Amino acid sequence: MKGIILSGGHGTRLRPLTHTGPKQLIPIANKPVIYYAIDDLRQAGITDIGIILGTNMPNKIKDALGDGSELGVNITYIMQGEPKGLAHAAKTAQDFVGDESFVMYLGDNILKSGIQEFVEGFDDSDFSARILLQAVEDPRQFGVAEVNEKEEVIRLVEKPEHPKSNLALVGIYLFKENIFCAIDKIKPSWRDELEITDAIQQLIDDDLNVDSFIVEGWWKDTGKPEDVLDANQLILETLKTDIKGKIEDNVKIKGRVQIGENTVIKEGSVIKGPCIIGENCEIKGYVGPYTSIGDNTQLIESEIDSSIVIGNSVIQSDKRITESLLGLNSKIVTDKDTYPKGRSLVMGENSVIKL
Ligand code: DAU
Repeated sequence: MKGIILSGGHGTRLRPLTHTGPKQLIPIANKPVIYYAIDDLRQAGITDIGIILGTNMPNKIKDALGDGSELGVNITYIMQGEPKGLAHAAKTAQDFVGDESFVMYLGDNILKSGIQEFVEGFDDSDFSARILLQAVEDPRQFGVAEVNEKEEVIRLVEKPEHPKSNLALVGIYLFKENIFCAIDKIKPSWRDELEITDAIQQLIDDDLNVDSFIVEGWWKDTGKPEDVLDANQLILETLKTDIKGKIEDNVKIKGRVQIGENTVIKEGSVIKGPCIIGENCEIKGYVGPYTSIGDNTQLIESEIDSSIVIGNSVIQSDKRITESLLGLNSKIVTDKDTYPKGRSLVMGENSVIKL
């Protein structure tokens, strides 16, 4: 069995962060989100992985993953180019997949349970596809499945205005070779994309068997800033304590905390887990629960919680930073002596600042 991970797309809902890189590299608990997909595939015994690349700085993905050897997998890069839909992306991987069955993993999805139990038995089954479903509050932003009393999938619709159920399609799919014939039969949707949801519906229309699993543990599509922060919180819930940096005198550390090498937690600071602080950081102040601070960051007499600081940043704020997502090289400075009193901001396109 092979794996493909979709890493294209424009990531418009995550601007400005995606102006400088693909969304699949945004870190969750200091680890790019795409690494979680690779871990899941490897743990399910799938080491031959095709990474589908788009037009938004694909070299950054190549630089981060290399040939995969450091992650225990063997990576092949496949160029999709413009994001013409998930089914189009799958089709670009046809030569790579050959006649094997494969897992298609959306590179911005993250799943608590891993995928091992879903992969088991698929190869030898008479199913052409296996989909994962989860009940959600607002199904309109997902592919939605209608199932009958026997829990058989009877209909799939992409982002319906009036959903027939609350069962959303998780962005992890298992396919056999005949998905490629189904993709050849479908037409672009209203958003001008070849939808994988329509291709699976095509399998059903062709009387092929489509299996479904309900996912019990949490699942997150990290397509929007609030989802990225939620995923960060969920991953940090599972964090184990590991302190490598230096803790000065009179520092309070509570709960599960990770602190990287060459990081110094300065005198008088309070660190309340679950939280993770990377390498080469200097922290003075308060780091609260559900915070991930990337490498080379300085926190100067400031407080932060429930946030992600990607790294190389300086935070000196007179108000607590909360529920925030700060890109690489961010600077928050409180200059108490400026006149006229005001806020001086340098913001990229699509920035959001809540004052
Ligand atoms: O997250 C689950 C949902 O993912 C499913 O419920 C939907 O049925 C499915 O269509 C998909 O919806 P999204 O609108 O969230 O998909 P998005 O455009 O965000 O793309 C998902 C991933 O695939 C993302 O990592 C970018 C990548 N991608 C996307 C497109 C459209 C590609 O690599 N190529 C593409 O052409």
